Amino acid sequence: MKLSNLFLRLAVALALLGVGLGYFMGATHQFLLSPVHAHINLLGWVSMFLYGLFYRAAPDAAAGWLPKVHAALAILGLPVMMTGLTIQLLAVPSLMALVPPMMIAGPTLVVLGMVAFAAVVFRATDGRAVAA
Ligand code: HEM
Repeated sequence: MKLSNLFLRLAVALALLGVGLGYFMGATHQFLLSPVHAHINLLGWVSMFLYGLFYRAAPDAAAGWLPKVHAALAILGLPVMMTGLTIQLLAVPSLMALVPPMMIAGPTLVVLGMVAFAAVVFRATDGRAVAA
């Protein structure tokens, strides 16, 4: 599957999850998971849709290994981070030992994914790249 389509599909799936959680929070007046809702919406729906639009607008930018590294880091990092954050916020006693490794690994993967995406964008906009 094209990288742009992968990101666009993941983004709308995460939008459904994110707004679904927001709807649940509003309906039940339980706001404990607000940070999970916010990050699924912003790193999932918004960021991934922007990644998808970028790779669609500049298809040449999706070539090579760097965009694949970007996708792997972004797609792996978010669920690890969201699972760790959810366990931390719900304070599930039997799972609390998982929080430190998940809350180090998840955000690190997400940040490295952003670094990889920044490199992809700079590479595609350095003036020698084919105009989108
Ligand atoms: C139907 C869609 C949505 C519903 C029902 C919803 C619902 C909510 C609710 C109930 C809260 C908690 C408010 C509080 O703590 O008093 C919240 C917080 C928040 N939402 Fe949404 N939301 C929706 C869509 C979105 C979208 C699309 C985004 C971002 C793209 C977003 C970003 C945020 C942020 C940043 C917060 C603050 C989180 C925090 O303070 O920890 N929401 N939302």
